[in-house]
Amino acid sequence: MKLILLGAPGSGKGTVSEQLIKDFRLQHISPGELLREEVKKNTTIGREIQKYIEAGKLVPDQFVVEMVKLEVKGKDNFILDGFPRTVSQAKSIDDLNIDSVIYLEVPEAVVIERFSGRRVCPQCNTGYHVKYLPPKKAGICDKDGTKLIIRKDDDPKVIKERFKVFHAETKPLIDYYTKQKKLRVVNGNDAPRSVYQAVKRLLNH
Ligand code: AP5
Ligand code: MG
Repeated sequence: MKLILLGAPGSGKGTVSEQLIKDFRLQHISPGELLREEVKKNTTIGREIQKYIEAGKLVPDQFVVEMVKLEVKGKDNFILDGFPRTVSQAKSIDDLNIDSVIYLEVPEAVVIERFSGRRVCPQCNTGYHVKYLPPKKAGICDKDGTKLIIRKDDDPKVIKERFKVFHAETKPLIDYYTKQKKLRVVNGNDAPRSVYQAVKRLLNH
């Protein structure tokens, strides 16, 4: 199964992916995570990428498109979380024969509230929320005991920019994949478990 998860910043793409990869044995391909790994390495490219991420802008295609293509090469079961984000990125993978594009629909105000409580594990990338998806021990990753962090781009000013980019660049993909008859909309404004159940039902049909 080849899936795309589409949604605004903070709509729950990462959270849904974590569960989908377990139940459907899919590989999770998240350019956001791959790019943050590159930043961690502190290479020349990493430092260049960091500027875009921390400004809330899209990282230019020259860094992202090839990276994603390399990741999907030879794979038949994967979720693309956060790719494509522009019509031009979508065109670059039209030959992959994606099965479904799931759009997680969440009102902006809800997502902004989610951001204030998001924590992530810098080691394994597992996401948490202090109120909605808390770790067993406050501030510590359940999986590997690492101290959780707040992502640098979760600053309110950067979030505002990420939303601007989402509206201008990514929303046209709703139309793009509706025309390809691949778009399935899921209400993402529900408890994490219910959102996941809705996605699962859809995929089991
Ligand atoms: P990326 O890392 O993909 O960030 P994003 O799309 O902005 O989305 P997030 O990861 O912030 O949110 P999410 O939808 O995964 O939500 P989550 O599950 O964490 O990209 C970061 C940057 O990398 C971009 O800005 C750009 O610079 C670059 N980049 C990435 N892809 C690119 C591309 N294709 N082209 C160019 N540049 C690219 O949930 C959020 C919070 O809510 C968590 O705390 C979670 O626990 C909680 N939560 C989740 N679900 C629920 C629920 N149902 N109810 C309550 N709380 C919930
Ligand atoms: Mg994410």
